[in-house]
Amino acid sequence: MNGRRPLLAANWKMNKTRAQARNFVEIVRQVVSPFPQAETCICPPFTALGAVNEGIRGSGIALGAQDLYWEKEGAYTGEISGPMLAECGCEYVLVGHSERRQLFGETIADTARKTRAAWDAGLVPILCVGESFEQRRSGETERVIETHVLEGTAKLSAGEVGKLVIAYEPIWAIGTGLPATSEEAQRISALIRGLAGGRFGDPVAAGLRILYGGSVKAANAAEFLGQADVDGALVGGASLDPTEFSKIVAAAKV
Ligand code: 13P
Repeated sequence: MNGRRPLLAANWKMNKTRAQARNFVEIVRQVVSPFPQAETCICPPFTALGAVNEGIRGSGIALGAQDLYWEKEGAYTGEISGPMLAECGCEYVLVGHSERRQLFGETIADTARKTRAAWDAGLVPILCVGESFEQRRSGETERVIETHVLEGTAKLSAGEVGKLVIAYEPIWAIGTGLPATSEEAQRISALIRGLAGGRFGDPVAAGLRILYGGSVKAANAAEFLGQADVDGALVGGASLDPTEFSKIVAAAKV
């Protein structure tokens, strides 16, 4: 036992109305009702945060958002701040998801600011890192991971990094049905832990939770969760179905 509590996080992306969110939570909370071995987190779109927050009350399930802006308030049309998310009941927030980087031009410097802002608002950032298909093909995976991890955490203290969550999400595995192998997920997770240890010290790195994300489903979740340095999963497509997601959470029980 390494003392790290597994985290199974659902990233719904731009899916589900409030009504659909309520329906999902009603089903999942029956299956996932709190058990100490693992933690479950649901990251709905901003519009469904309230509905999910009401639905999970008393269930032990945590609420997360999919993004935030680094300023607390001001003239930033369309943006949402950390304190606003905390007020909605969020405990977690995804930061630097590859879709934010690729589709919306988010830079690593932006990600570092958002990671800092999340902590300042009392939210635990789930910092997403991962290489593209081209980067992998040209042998740049390790360099990309190092940049994402070290620059993404540049504004954090060691104590904060010890409570951080990092999700390794290779871009080529996201939404493709072609996950990394569990060996690859373990190798990169160990690399991430080593990088954190080099910068912030080994005791800090030992507390850091590292998730794997990219085509995780009920059928392969246990294999990822069985890896020494993989402490959970960040699930996209398979998290939209309450039965499938419940099975993924249950995979952490064994
Ligand atoms: P999929 O599970 O759909 O591959 O998406 C992974 C992801 O991007 C989670 O953040």
